[in-house]
Amino acid sequence: MEKVILAYSGGINTTLAIHWLRHYRNLEVVTYAANLGFGEYFESLGERALAAGASGAHVDNLKNRFVKNYVLPSFKAGARYGSGYLLSSALSRPLIVERLVKLARETSANYIAHGCTGKGNDQLRFEASIAALAPDLQVIAPVREWPYRTPEERLTYARRNNIKIPNPDKHKRSVDGNLWGISIEAPCLEDLASPPPEDLFFITREPARAPAKPVHLKIAFKRGTPMALDGKEMDLPELVEALNQIGGRYGVGRVDVVEDRAVGIKTREVYEVPGATILYTAHQALQDIVLTRQMREFQAAVAMRYGQLIYDGFWFSPLREAFDAFVDVSQRQITGTVDVEVIPGACRVIGRESPYSLYDRRMASYTADDTFPHAAASGFAQIWSMEARLEAGRAKKSRKDSHSS
Ligand code: ARG
Repeated sequence: MEKVILAYSGGINTTLAIHWLRHYRNLEVVTYAANLGFGEYFESLGERALAAGASGAHVDNLKNRFVKNYVLPSFKAGARYGSGYLLSSALSRPLIVERLVKLARETSANYIAHGCTGKGNDQLRFEASIAALAPDLQVIAPVREWPYRTPEERLTYARRNNIKIPNPDKHKRSVDGNLWGISIEAPCLEDLASPPPEDLFFITREPARAPAKPVHLKIAFKRGTPMALDGKEMDLPELVEALNQIGGRYGVGRVDVVEDRAVGIKTREVYEVPGATILYTAHQALQDIVLTRQMREFQAAVAMRYGQLIYDGFWFSPLREAFDAFVDVSQRQITGTVDVEVIPGACRVIGRESPYSLYDRRMASYTADDTFPHAAASGFAQIWSMEARLEAGRAKKSRKDSHSS
């Protein structure tokens, strides 16, 4: 019997997929689940897969690998998508594929299967990553192929085949989470007029119930990488976890947006990214004093394009490597510390310093300390306005010409 490696989350779709692949595609199913720092059932995932008919089940802790190899490059680039998505789910897909391919090679499997729907972005990320790393492997997406569209139909399938599936929660949420952030989709979000109910969230408290007293944090960066919190050196996963706790308590990093999916539809998405939000804010503040204007403007353009590339599933591409090469240079001097104040629902920068800062107080000052060469500016301003002056003359001429014709 041929073998398929199934990306397994333990949810209803991937659990039914084990049975479906076995009985409708006649394949031996080996499951692979990745612990990326969110969720609690990882110990039982293996048993659950075997109970549903898998012949082998792997569960991997990839938290550190995820943060180091995927989150960090994206963070240093300032990558984002649309109205504030920090790409937490999108970043995890290429890593999962990296491991699925490895397992497929080790076990001589010819197929990889995933539980994505035909409407989402994740199918594209899985399949573009597989195409880049292992173009010979074939992909199967049971959820796109089987006829069970509604939760009821899937429950019937499970019952008829004696498959134990997890109980859906009250909101029927579809959740994808990791250390960097949590993505939440749910039927109650489909009405754009309704705010998300309070108990939809996992790690952020309602800002109205956050502590009233602000908290101050000092975040140290070295070459664009967050290194320490309040003077204590930490590796990045630990630091993100600490900031998730603090930010979560203050209700920081709730993102509620309408997003353009790659398949052409708009959908409502809710994200929880407390730690990432604090780090993005601090990182931007440090870049603002260190980068030249030209670098800062180009960095912003790269941030947008890099975000799009991650969103669209092209992590494994020459363009990403080229972006990383640029970011390596742009981050060379992003070293220093940023003071952040966390208040209910928000965070703001209250101090920043860097040995490589370009901020020169004597240049910026309007006090007696001012050393800026004011007189030289008149020649500069005159040349700067040259184009506008020439154009004004031309506009006058063309107005006259159009009157006389
Ligand atoms: N819209 C987000 C994205 O495309 C979140 C996807 C979350 N996936 C999920 N299975 N709930 O990255």
